[in-house]
Amino acid sequence: MKMAVQFVMRIAILFLLTYELAEAAAAPMAKPDCNSTCGNLEIPYPFGIGPDCYMDKLFEVVCNGTGSSAKAFLTSIDKEVRQINIRYHLYSSDPTVQVQMPIIYSNNCRSSGSGAALNISGSPFNFSYYHNTFISVGCDNFATITGLGPVVFGCKSHCIKSNIVERTRCSGFNCCESSYFPSNQQEFHVQFRSIDESLAREEKACKYAFLVDHNWLESNKPDPSSVQYWETVPIVLEWAISNRTNHSRDMFESLKKRHDVRCSFSDEDEDFDSFTCDCAYGYQGNPYLPSGCQGK
Ligand SMILES: *[C@@H]1O[C@H](CO)[C@@H](O)[C@H](O)[C@H]1NC(C)=O
Ligand SMILES: *[C@@H]1O[C@H](CO)[C@@H](O)[C@H](O)[C@H]1NC(C)=O
Ligand SMILES: *[C@@H]1O[C@H](CO)[C@@H](O)[C@H](O)[C@H]1NC(C)=O
Ligand SMILES: *[C@@H]1O[C@H](CO)[C@@H](O)[C@H](O)[C@H]1NC(C)=O
Ligand SMILES: *[C@@H]1O[C@H](CO)[C@@H](O)[C@H](O)[C@H]1NC(C)=O
Ligand SMILES: *[C@@H]1O[C@H](CO)[C@@H](O)[C@H](O)[C@H]1NC(C)=O
Repeated sequence: MKMAVQFVMRIAILFLLTYELAEAAAAPMAKPDCNSTCGNLEIPYPFGIGPDCYMDKLFEVVCNGTGSSAKAFLTSIDKEVRQINIRYHLYSSDPTVQVQMPIIYSNNCRSSGSGAALNISGSPFNFSYYHNTFISVGCDNFATITGLGPVVFGCKSHCIKSNIVERTRCSGFNCCESSYFPSNQQEFHVQFRSIDESLAREEKACKYAFLVDHNWLESNKPDPSSVQYWETVPIVLEWAISNRTNHSRDMFESLKKRHDVRCSFSDEDEDFDSFTCDCAYGYQGNPYLPSGCQGK
């Protein structure tokens, strides 16, 4: 009896192992005959390395270097990319990428090259309002985010004479944080002003601001005052396949015929502005490849 149970369990374990191995091998993420990784980063279609491997030049990845130290760049925004997700997050409807974006400095700081703005217009990416936090560092600092229409917002930080550096919180002394950022933006500017004119002397000190991946911030807890020496920080962008994307019409038509995908358009839709998809319940893999979803 005992032996029979063991035997059955062993078969079950063997079965589970083969099943998982088969599944891992069977769910391709990149187009066939394309390099599916750059360094440790997996590059799922519609992203790709090389003209026959991406859906549109907007999703082109260039891999610089070899082995695990290679770095991937998204050519449409000319930024290093650290994560590419094709599945969307439960609380925000679009899938995301994490890229390295420059820090924005006040005029009197070292020049940053990017000026006082971040601009990814013309790309399929938007700054994620859900996954990012806006932070500004400076004394007597009123940092406002502008260029987003009539609403102006930002945060204020007062001077503090003590040498104690706020390591983990930006609560309004030498460093402030605004978790509110509007959705669907591709461009914004930051203006740094003085809160108190009598402190105008302090205004000569360097001020800077950055939008940053909230999860990255929580797990890395960088000293905000050391960020001024960095070139870039990780930011989360959301993406979708828009009707301006090459081959998007063909993809839309073929996705509509499939039962193994769930997309942001409905079966009756004849047209689309933009869409994203996931494998249907019970399937997993890459919905953007013709046979990319595999039954679990
Ligand atoms: C994959 O990348 C390697 C190294 O960069 C290159 O030699 C090879 O030709 C690539 N393969 C394809 C199918 O693009
Ligand atoms: C769109 O596709 C056409 C034909 O495949 C190709 O010639 C063109 O370069 C593509 N454009 C972009 C932006 O990928
Ligand atoms: C590729 O990496 C090399 C060495 O790190 C660097 O000099 C070069 O600027 C990089 N190219 C791009 C396009 O980033
Ligand atoms: C942002 O980029 C777009 C496209 O490259 C350009 O048309 C626009 O003028 C840029 N905005 C600013 C303020 O530079
Ligand atoms: C980005 O924002 C524009 C509006 O500015 C919107 O039309 C588009 O669907 C958004 N894209 C994503 C991926 O959220
Ligand atoms: C994409 O959709 C928008 C909104 O429906 C429409 O105004 C635009 O003409 C469409 N563009 C293309 C290339 O189909």
